[in-house]
Amino acid sequence: MGRLDGKIAVITGGADGMGASHSRLFSQEGAKLVVTDRREEPGQRVVDDIVAAGGEAIFVHQDVSVEADWERVAAVTMDRYGKADILINNAAIASFKSAKDATLEEWNLIMDVTAKSIFLGCKAMLPAMQAAGGGSIVNNSSISGIVGMGAQAAYQAAKGAVRVLSKSIAVDYAKYNIRCNSIHPGVVRTRGTSRVMDDPSFVDGMLTSTILRRVAEPIELSYPVPFLASDESTYVNGAELVVDGGYTTK
Ligand SMILES: NC(=O)c1ccc[n+]([C@@H]2O[C@H](COP(=O)([O-])OP(=O)(O)OC[C@H]3O[C@@H](n4cnc5c(N)ncnc54)[C@H](O)[C@@H]3O)[C@@H](O)[C@H]2O)c1
Repeated sequence: MGRLDGKIAVITGGADGMGASHSRLFSQEGAKLVVTDRREEPGQRVVDDIVAAGGEAIFVHQDVSVEADWERVAAVTMDRYGKADILINNAAIASFKSAKDATLEEWNLIMDVTAKSIFLGCKAMLPAMQAAGGGSIVNNSSISGIVGMGAQAAYQAAKGAVRVLSKSIAVDYAKYNIRCNSIHPGVVRTRGTSRVMDDPSFVDGMLTSTILRRVAEPIELSYPVPFLASDESTYVNGAELVVDGGYTTK
């Protein structure tokens, strides 16, 4: 018996990195999935793998910063499964520039894809969760949403917004039996970080502050998520789950 048996989960950014890893683990735990991404081919491949392994999943092409795309995701989810129990807002983009160096266009893009998307996702999916009698939202923030880091002005602002928006939703929707928590990864080896992983000064700087002295693999960020998504965490609401190898501990 899986920890997510009978649950319908929408997972954004499921084509790669943590989103793909979450999708595979959620399926193994018994959830039926709507996997979304702006990149169709790798997203469909993740879904095909899940179906080939005996799971149930569909892929929906989506730009998480576009409201009409969210309305379509909600409609497809209701059409296919009749409800949504779980929303994993995982997709985001980063930029590594200080406030002086970032342009207004870069700021707006990061805020749209990394912060506004979470607002749009919750707005679109909350009615489906209310229809299901409750649910769980997990928003992927970052340690960048908690402590100051170098040269990440827009990304930090966006991830800080995700962190506190999660608490706002936790307060407003508890009466509908909908919980909302945020997860805060440290450095994880994914396609999204492959560029900075090639920069020894970045890796050295991050690992100096990471008590475990290593980068995480995506699955290490996936293992805690079924707990937050499932009925095992019914008393966890508005919490920040930090999974950072100890980066923010000292
Ligand atoms: N990798 C890390 O070290 C790290 C650390 C802290 C937080 N995070 C956060 O974890 C989450 C996943 O990160 P990752 O490293 O696995 O990312 P990734 O770049 O490997 O994968 C992100 C996925 O999101 C998709 N995506 C990007 N923009 C999109 C859009 N506008 N619409 C729909 N899909 C879009 C991409 O196509 C990709 O498949 C993100 O929220 C990220 O900010 C990552």
